[in-house]
Amino acid sequence: MSARKAFYVTTPIYYVNDAPHIGHAYTTVAGDVLTRWHRQRGEQVWYLTGTDEHGTKVERTAEANGMSPADWTHKLVHESWLPVLATLDVANDDFIRTTSGRHRHGVAVFWQRLKDNGYVYEDVYEGPYCVGCEEFKLPGDLIESSDGEQLCPIHSKPVEMLSERNWWFKLSAFTEPLLEHYKRHSHAVEPKSAYNEVVSFISSGLSDISMSRSAVSWGVPLPWDSDQVVYVWFDALLNYITAIGFGASPDTPEGERFDRIWPADVHLVGKDILRFHAVYWPAMLMAAELPLPRKVFAHGWLLVGGEKMSKTKLTGIAPSQITDTFGADAFRYYFMSAIHFGQDGSFSWEDMHARYTAELANGLGNLVSRATAMVVKYCDGILPEPGPYTNADRNLQDSLLAASERADSAMMRLDFSAGIAAIRGFVEAVNLYVTEQEPWKLAKDDEQTPRLHTVLYVMCESLRAIAVLYNAVMPAAMTSVWSRIGALPHLGPLAERDVTEVSRWGQLPPGALVAKGGALFPRIEETP
Ligand code: ME8
Ligand code: MG
Repeated sequence: MSARKAFYVTTPIYYVNDAPHIGHAYTTVAGDVLTRWHRQRGEQVWYLTGTDEHGTKVERTAEANGMSPADWTHKLVHESWLPVLATLDVANDDFIRTTSGRHRHGVAVFWQRLKDNGYVYEDVYEGPYCVGCEEFKLPGDLIESSDGEQLCPIHSKPVEMLSERNWWFKLSAFTEPLLEHYKRHSHAVEPKSAYNEVVSFISSGLSDISMSRSAVSWGVPLPWDSDQVVYVWFDALLNYITAIGFGASPDTPEGERFDRIWPADVHLVGKDILRFHAVYWPAMLMAAELPLPRKVFAHGWLLVGGEKMSKTKLTGIAPSQITDTFGADAFRYYFMSAIHFGQDGSFSWEDMHARYTAELANGLGNLVSRATAMVVKYCDGILPEPGPYTNADRNLQDSLLAASERADSAMMRLDFSAGIAAIRGFVEAVNLYVTEQEPWKLAKDDEQTPRLHTVLYVMCESLRAIAVLYNAVMPAAMTSVWSRIGALPHLGPLAERDVTEVSRWGQLPPGALVAKGGALFPRIEETP
């Protein structure tokens, strides 16, 4: 019996020319929310991230810092890139470094296969190269500065002119096969604007492209020409297969893992690197006779002063500058809800503070503290048995059903802001219910005790559902809610609760031990 195909999600592997900023955090958090959601649908999931360590950009940065590239990358990976995953509460299954043996081995196997298949030949490259992008630029890619210099539009820096003998990949052979592929799979690139851009680029005809560098030494040597290294992008893209066992023989555990996990279900990328992922990468896979990824999703940019936040331009904000004040949960919540995935957005402290205060501290935080405080005060912390349900109670149960279905379909199509809006709508409905039911008044009248018990039960059972639905976005805060409402001993770990069964009413058993805790989202001063 073959094992179930895992839902496989990747982030780009990031250049270690500097420490991560919130742009990198943005992609990684999106992948974490997506994979946590799929895990909570009971699916097998594999979530990969990592670092891109070869190439000119990293080599020059190491040199500028007076270190060897190997020492520099080791230092940055351990001091910056691995720790940021903990800062953001990311539950990746693996972390691939392109300097690792498993990767370098897989790269050599892959390119030898392409050479054997007749897709690699020797020629001279003469033309522009952007070190910031690590990209051979095409004439139409560049912009001209006021004094006539050719600039990379992403990095606003002059390109370098290269002239070197190197090895080429026959990309031109894949113009028609790629067009055919995208015609048949119209969701293989998203959003639609990205799909259209890719199809139009391919339609204009693909030219062959250099796959090696003879003037660079920090990389993976070509198996058939050890004077050259694999061009950094054609080394880096392979991380998606080398990390899961490509290059190992099929009857080893690594080889079996490759068959179980490949192809990727979603490659998450920023729109800066769309062409690499939606044109070059599938062409390389076709040349190697491997299945193509099911989807490349190109999200927008976090902007600073209208331009892409960037390491190269030194405009990055470190994730910890935000999490130190607001915490990882609020960071994840803010970026996934305030910016529509696929569009550009800017971060502002004021906007973050306003949403945090209204939606988390007041909205959700208040609900949690009111529900738990009242069960403690009126029922000695023991969740009461509900009495007969009224229309108000049933309406709330209906809105949970509607909200959970909307959230699931939005999360499945990577519309994180719509998914969160659906859950937030349910939180607002519960808060409105509490305002209308006035349990504090019911508590003053002994004859109303059964109704008080029903209202308190409805509040806590709603929190049970909210914790399950919001766990993918805010795992630490929701784990805290899960234990405050006494769910853990009865329902098991939160992360194992299925989001598709969340609307089944009555899962939290009466008798559960409810406890108050400190503020879930403490109030924060407006200025940092
Ligand atoms: O391109 N807004 O690495 P990189 C949103 N090593 N996302 C941003 C961002 C911003 N301002 N800045 C960066 C590389 N990102 C290659 C990738 S993959 C085989 C090799 C995110 O360090 C976004 O995901 O330049 C973007 O595509 C990626 O970081 C680029 O990171
Ligand atoms: Mg970049």
